[in-house]
Amino acid sequence: MPPQIDDLSFAFEALKQFRKYSYSLYHERFIFPFLCGSYFTYRRIDVERIASIAKSVSNDPSYLDIGCGYGDFLEKVRQYLPKAEGMEKSVEMFFKLGRYKPDYIKIGDAYNEIEKKYDVIFVGWMEPGVDYRDKIAEKTEVIITTLDQGLSLAAEFDGFGYERVASWVTPSWEDINTEITNKYYSKLSDEIIKSLSKLRGAHNLWYVYAKPKYKESIKRTLKSCLACEYKKENKGYDFENVLDEVGYRYLENVNIDDKRHLLWDIAFYD
Ligand SMILES: C[S@@+](CC[C@H](N)C(=O)[O-])C[C@H]1O[C@@H](n2cnc3c(N)ncnc32)[C@H](O)[C@@H]1O
Repeated sequence: MPPQIDDLSFAFEALKQFRKYSYSLYHERFIFPFLCGSYFTYRRIDVERIASIAKSVSNDPSYLDIGCGYGDFLEKVRQYLPKAEGMEKSVEMFFKLGRYKPDYIKIGDAYNEIEKKYDVIFVGWMEPGVDYRDKIAEKTEVIITTLDQGLSLAAEFDGFGYERVASWVTPSWEDINTEITNKYYSKLSDEIIKSLSKLRGAHNLWYVYAKPKYKESIKRTLKSCLACEYKKENKGYDFENVLDEVGYRYLENVNIDDKRHLLWDIAFYD
């Protein structure tokens, strides 16, 4: 369950306490994702992949992040796609978080209506039991979703005239939260921490869906993103060091449903 608005005061209090003994400025975004981070773990390369996909669809792309929260990820996307907008159901969240609501985040419920058409719609979260895929399908030809294993609805768009183009796996905030907590804020021995890390289970799956006419150009774009990433030309965000330190490096091996995956590697679909 995502946090309810009334839980936020408790969370804030816990955050204040945490700040008194925190080892790193960047831990809080993974331990308190709703207050100061994002529910999915990302690197700059995820943002760049998404921006490149949008630019392969249009020279001046429009982009909507549905359920954007206070806009942690959206802010990063806007550095590449200045027209990017967000849609967030909860206006109270901004008051409770004491955050300014930027004009590019509109308050609205995607379940009721998405106002206009967008080149790309990003769906970072869909609550179990609430399904507005048909509303999204009316308003875009390219959809990027993240699915937090075990938490959010498996938002598959194959039945809506889209084809799955590509996917990749990143750790979820829970993966990182557990590793940080064990490593820095518990008295567990290194040996136990190592054995616990074999139980890693919650991952974040990113899927790109598009109408067939965009499929090949998006694949080409993502292949050229991969080529740049291999050359390590771009510096990541400062908080990415935390991911490296707790063993979730770029192209690190993980097992999902007994299959081996490399984190951030891109799988392409025919
Ligand atoms: C788990 S939070 C994720 C927030 C942000 N994307 C992040 O990663 O931190 C889910 C957000 O989606 C919003 N939300 C849920 N259903 C929605 C809907 N039907 N329309 C718009 N926003 C919605 C919630 O209010 C909440 O802020």
